[in-house]
Amino acid sequence: MSTTAERASLPYDLSAAARAVYEQPVVGHVIDGEVRESASGESFPVYDPSTGLEFARGAQGGSAEVEAAVLSARRAFVDGRWRLMPPAQKERVLHRYAELIAENRTAFGELDSIDAGILKGFGGFIADFAVGAIDYYAGWPTKLKGVVPAVPADLSVALVREPVGVVGIITPWNGPTAVAAFVAAALAAGNSVILKPAEQTPLSAHLLGVLALRAGVPAGVFNVVQGAGEVGGALVAHPGVDKISFTGSVATGKAIAEAGAKTLKRVSLELGGKSPILVFPDADLDLAAAGAMSAIWNNSGQVCTAGSRTLVHRSVYDRFAEKVVAESAKLQVGGAFEEGTELGPLVSAAQLARVQSYVEIGQAEGAELALSPTASGGGGYFHGPTVFTGVRNDMRIAQEEIFGPVMALLPFDTEEEAYAIANDVEFGLSAGVWTNDLSRAHRASRALHVGTVWINTYQNNDVSVPYGGVKQSGYGRTLGEESLEAFLHTKSVWTKVFDA
Ligand code: NAI
Ligand code: MG
Repeated sequence: MSTTAERASLPYDLSAAARAVYEQPVVGHVIDGEVRESASGESFPVYDPSTGLEFARGAQGGSAEVEAAVLSARRAFVDGRWRLMPPAQKERVLHRYAELIAENRTAFGELDSIDAGILKGFGGFIADFAVGAIDYYAGWPTKLKGVVPAVPADLSVALVREPVGVVGIITPWNGPTAVAAFVAAALAAGNSVILKPAEQTPLSAHLLGVLALRAGVPAGVFNVVQGAGEVGGALVAHPGVDKISFTGSVATGKAIAEAGAKTLKRVSLELGGKSPILVFPDADLDLAAAGAMSAIWNNSGQVCTAGSRTLVHRSVYDRFAEKVVAESAKLQVGGAFEEGTELGPLVSAAQLARVQSYVEIGQAEGAELALSPTASGGGGYFHGPTVFTGVRNDMRIAQEEIFGPVMALLPFDTEEEAYAIANDVEFGLSAGVWTNDLSRAHRASRALHVGTVWINTYQNNDVSVPYGGVKQSGYGRTLGEESLEAFLHTKSVWTKVFDA
């Protein structure tokens, strides 16, 4: 990798704040309170998914950067510059951080659009989510409290909630600014944090690191180390890191759990899904079709909770399939900044190739391609909406996470069969249920072995609501109070009480 590659200028009119990030010679790490390039001088290319142009370089982290980040995070934790800061003061700093992100809403949206291909209109909502999450967690430092258990009178015991220490947060590319929510929970608990963003999307993570310093988060408390999987691996292996919070693929999650065991790392994993959408014949079929479509077309299917298996009762299956094919065919595929785009590009050439390969796999398995992807034009990583009908649940396209705009329609005959198919997959992240029968909705929510069930809606989220999976979708929860808990441990403090 070199720093001398020709870089393209992007054909968009972006804000000065966004340009200030990606027009740097190298989008750097944020370590020990300063922006740094790599000791090795190495960098990696950053591509715009809408054009395929290399428009920026990210600093390629290595062992020197991981070592420096862990050292500075540990130093900050030990001297207590953040951990022991008065709770109300921590809250003010975190609220200030949220304000700075809000002031940079446009820039964050633009950075995620050129980095991950996130639609222009949607980028701002991700920034809003980040702001809301930081504000939510900012409220916690003054509310953390322990317990005094009843023990014999010659003793006093306090159970104190303390931060776990140095936390590594390893994140994917499909909602880059949203990672602020995990960072905020870890910081609110008093930890030092090292964020390793996905190598496809270094930009908004860089700005998150810079703004944290500006908000008054002390040096070393929030570090960002850019780079590929090896950097994540080095954090996982490092004995100076106490906990890893990972969001991404199942394969990488398992590798992290295994490697982390060597240092007994606390690990929480938010992995992928193959989430079913169950459409019962009593549902409002127009609403169900719209819901099933947005569940898979949203962010071009690159969402952990993408509704990638649509289970439809046989009595309405054909009608439902015709409707989604006709409506999906009208979706406008295009660049993240193009007016009217409804389905944006995939994040990378590699992701596009992966999705294309699954379309071939589905056909080879005998599923019917009811809506073929339109040929992708230009240099962007475009893949049109694709619908398979006649899918059997044992096909790979029904079992494996594709992470692209591919809808698989499966028929079912009875309610029991619907639940059996829904649960017959290695994942257990989420499910959607469309029915107007109240008791059926409750039966479904009990029968589905997943972390989240949405009824007559899909993919709503709120910072106060925990999010995560069962089975191969991982363990631990992000968001809400549970995320905070994951960054704390309980210390039992015993005191002997002598007689007067
Ligand atoms: P990935 O899980 O390999 O990457 C996610 C993060 O983990 C990145 O920051 C990456 O640099 C880091 N990483 C990679 N290898 C690592 C290792 N050995 N130790 C520590 N950190 C490591 O996902 P990738 O390769 O970007 O995408 C492949 C597929 O994974 C996608 O097509 C999709 O199916 C799935 N995926 C699912 C996500 C979800 O939220 N459910 C998010 C991203 C990917
Ligand atoms: Mg990978």
